[in-house]
Amino acid sequence: AEFKFMKTERRGNVGIVTFNRPEALNALNEDVAIEVTDALRAFDADDSIGCMILAGGEKAFCAGADIKYVLDQTFETAYLHDFANYMDQVAEVRKPIIAAVRGFAFGGGTEIALMCDIILADLTAQFALPEVGLGVIPGAGGPARMTRSVGKAKAMYYVLTGKRFDAAEAERIGMITKVVEDGRLMDEAMALAQEIAAMPRLSVLACKEGVNQQAEVPLIPGRKVERRLAHALFGSADKMEGMAAFAEKRKPNFTKY
Ligand code: HXC
Repeated sequence: AEFKFMKTERRGNVGIVTFNRPEALNALNEDVAIEVTDALRAFDADDSIGCMILAGGEKAFCAGADIKYVLDQTFETAYLHDFANYMDQVAEVRKPIIAAVRGFAFGGGTEIALMCDIILADLTAQFALPEVGLGVIPGAGGPARMTRSVGKAKAMYYVLTGKRFDAAEAERIGMITKVVEDGRLMDEAMALAQEIAAMPRLSVLACKEGVNQQAEVPLIPGRKVERRLAHALFGSADKMEGMAAFAEKRKPNFTKY
């Protein structure tokens, strides 16, 4: 598919989706929100892709909702179009998504990073949920996902103040996976994506589903899903191959499907 505001690229089994609206620091108007979701879903549906990277520009990963677009919204239009509803489907993508964050990730930028599965950021990264100062609240999952990710104490502080925080703080509070040295971000994201893409596909999907269930449901129902996923994978060809290879002291030869 051709996109106006996103670039997509495939490298081997990795799909790279890059925000491409630099003149507005990748701010999310309705088209950008739809395109980022569609681009990730297209790779999700593509059997040759095993893992994705979502990246932005050097100055900004994404500066959040397009304020000029939101300014004209009323309760009626926002409720009718349910802004951010479609973007929530990024969290429904089944294959892992690595967010590679450089520069500003404000509002919806932080929120979309939180919809991804692994967040890598370099030393230029700045996160914030500044919506409180604009008279609204983060409406694309910030309060929900950040609280689940880092706990109430830190989430409440950043949601109530809108203060910026850098990659080191984001890593300290457990919101991101790792801070990467300047200049190394895309290489590290690519290496990690390739590593994940080379894993047995069924296991990867089930591991992601298993981890996400825990964030979405209470412990006991979550454990039931986790057990079912584990039982189901016992029947897969790659499980037989992976375990036989270990027993036979050789490298596994996965089918990936
Ligand atoms: C629309 C934006 C934008 C945004 C930047 N731009 N962020 N346009 N919406 N969120 C535009 C600027 O207007 C400007 O366009 C160009 O991008 C460059 O930005 P500058 O501000 O000139 O750059 P700089 O001075 O370096 O400052 C960068 C910045 C600042 C700190 C990131 O742009 C900023 O604070 N942006 C807003 C971030 C924010 O509040 N996001 C949350 C949005 S609200 P021109 O044409 O002037 O050159 C939200 C809640 C919605 O997400 C609720 C959802 C349900």
